[in-house]
Amino acid sequence: MPRNQHGVIWTRIAGRPEKMGDLVAGPESIAFTYSTSYLSTGRPGFCLLGDGALWGRESVRYPLSERIPVFPRLLALIPGGNPRNLQRRHYLDLLRAQLGREPPPGPETEWRLLTLGGHGGIGHVDVFADDLAAEGWYRASETPQEALVAGGSGRRSQLWRMLKRDVRDENLEFDPQIVEDALGPTPSVAGMIPKLLVAADPQAERAAFFPPDTPGLRDVVLKIEPPEYAGLLDLEALCLGLHREAGFETPNWQRFDEDGLRFLAVERFDRQGGAPRPMESLFSVIATGDHAFRENGDLLLDELGAIIERLSEVARLPADTNEQLYRRLLMALLTGNGDLHLDNLALVGGLDHCRLSPVYDPAPMRAWPRHNLISAIPFDPAGYPDHGAFYARLGQAFGLTPGDARTCIATALEATADYPERVLALAQVPEPQRRQLAEISRRERRLLERHA
Ligand SMILES: Nc1ncnc2c1ncn2[C@@H]1O[C@H](COP(=O)(O)OP(=O)(O)OP(=O)(O)O)[C@@H](O)[C@H]1O
Ligand SMILES: [Mg+2]
Repeated sequence: MPRNQHGVIWTRIAGRPEKMGDLVAGPESIAFTYSTSYLSTGRPGFCLLGDGALWGRESVRYPLSERIPVFPRLLALIPGGNPRNLQRRHYLDLLRAQLGREPPPGPETEWRLLTLGGHGGIGHVDVFADDLAAEGWYRASETPQEALVAGGSGRRSQLWRMLKRDVRDENLEFDPQIVEDALGPTPSVAGMIPKLLVAADPQAERAAFFPPDTPGLRDVVLKIEPPEYAGLLDLEALCLGLHREAGFETPNWQRFDEDGLRFLAVERFDRQGGAPRPMESLFSVIATGDHAFRENGDLLLDELGAIIERLSEVARLPADTNEQLYRRLLMALLTGNGDLHLDNLALVGGLDHCRLSPVYDPAPMRAWPRHNLISAIPFDPAGYPDHGAFYARLGQAFGLTPGDARTCIATALEATADYPERVLALAQVPEPQRRQLAEISRRERRLLERHA
């Protein structure tokens, strides 16, 4: 039987590093125990339903599975398995060097990846192998670093060479040590599109990047467009704009091209005044509360409203959370974003004050035939003439009266009225994607109009 794995969780939620508690993972379950001193601060726990206010001195426990091999909240701190994931490549290189052999696939390697890269990521939870590693990392992250700048020569161009190799498959040599010295191995971040968590200098003439949390700079999620999704970042930026115009809270973003690479820098909203804020995906919240839930497909769209109701019995959530969720689902339907899954919806804040995060990742993935799915969260349209009728009725599953649901639908239709034309006008997006998306959007409008 494999031995237990040990780890620790620290946080900088109060502006300075402090230990939250200890992790022990066995073959079948994982446990987390808060340190007495962290419990006494009353600060947010490592995840909403694992908060110290609910568990106290008792260990928080979770049964492990192949699909969820750590606490659900910690999944986002392990680099994803996608071949374009920059962090997984980087950490596997490090592990290979440490072990002197190929890291074996399985839970032990995932645990190593978690302790190697699971700090400084999205949210307020930092995982390390032990307290010494934590102290060393926080100390190192206070040392000022030289910027990595686009193009340029010598060490500054090493990052660009790495991105061109890993994202664009160009056959280039670079020195990983230089990138690592400058950025640190950048923290793990979830999702399919290659990205780095960096701090950017908004004053700089050329894109200039530093390690996350560098004082005086802006922390961003920097997405880099891979060739297989040409046009994606222009479409994502358009949809961020559309949501903002429709009154949704969105982070600031900047779309730019440099040196043959396309970037979308999205300002991080899990940082506030230099300190991290708790942020947890609905996937993680639901999986922590319901041990039978293992993947998106384990929940139906019309069950989500009741789950938020139940959650609001333990967490303080704004009264309009369900209405806001319904409005986001309508926008996703009308913009061709079939990828609004439970990791693309999140709550920010602790148990005593949390709310839906600003909108992120509204990319209209239905532009690509292989992602042309109405909704990543499944639904059962049996008993409805078509899925437009289903969506028109769905508001009631989110606690809305038929009249209020109709208002939400009318608002979403209005906010997206010129969307097909705006998509068609994006000159850098390949024509087949533009056409497909505009057509999908028009079709969804017609269906929804018919039933509203
Ligand atoms: N502006 C932001 N502030 C804080 N966290 C963010 C922000 N944007 C994204 N994130 C976090 O980073 C993760 C990955 O980002 P995003 O969803 O945009 O990537 P993606 O690769 O497009 O994902 P997907 O696999 O869903 O297509 C998100 O799940 C979220 O936790
Ligand atoms: Mg995403």
